[in-house]
Amino acid sequence: MIVTIDGPAGAGKSTIARNLAATLGFRFLDTGAMYRAITLGAIRKEIEFDNQASLIAYAQKATIRWDQDKLLLDGGDVTEQIRSPIVTDSIRRIADIAEIRTALSDQQRRIAAGDNIVTEGRDQGTEVFPEAECKLFLTASPLERAKRRHQQLVELGRPIPLHDILTTQERRDEHDRERPLGALRPSEDAITINSDGMTAEDVLQEMLNTVHQVIESRQLNISTAPRAS
Ligand code: C5P
Repeated sequence: MIVTIDGPAGAGKSTIARNLAATLGFRFLDTGAMYRAITLGAIRKEIEFDNQASLIAYAQKATIRWDQDKLLLDGGDVTEQIRSPIVTDSIRRIADIAEIRTALSDQQRRIAAGDNIVTEGRDQGTEVFPEAECKLFLTASPLERAKRRHQQLVELGRPIPLHDILTTQERRDEHDRERPLGALRPSEDAITINSDGMTAEDVLQEMLNTVHQVIESRQLNISTAPRAS
């Protein structure tokens, strides 16, 4: 069974998707991390972002793997580095390239093949897994998302003015929405959850209920106990 969760930056997708997968005993796939890894690799290899042919060649041969919660790019742990601002600021130069999207989408389908998985990103329900049994679109108002990010940064001791977060977030959302391939949008058969005023626990519970409803209504033969490892 495939559960897709798409939505804009800062909607809390990653944490909730990870918890949903753990609760169901499904695998978890963070597809944003894959785009981040290729962006980091391109920066490290000093490939010019205008040199699409080299970016494509690099993305097609780079290896992305997970070892438990660690993300390995060409064998090296990049879990922390892919979250750096330079990666976030440059990622669209990678995510806009159709051939790179095709390579990563193919890899996402290989990872999901024959397994129960919760996969999270922008285009999972629309382009990568149009046949997914359960499609969720998690959103929240721009202000609420920016406030949550602001709070996280305060807790990390790196406060940034709320207004700046809001501006950057809006620019990123707009770009993600307008990308010709893999654009951020709910698929027609997705269930949208707006998490304004909801706790992460509320959202998780709503998603769990939805997944269980799908399993029942489609009479899927799936056991949803948490995995031992
Ligand atoms: O989810 P995360 O913030 O890590 O994603 C980073 C960026 O990667 C997004 O803003 C988007 O541009 C790109 N992305 C994408 N398709 C996905 C996941 C992420 O284009 N499936």
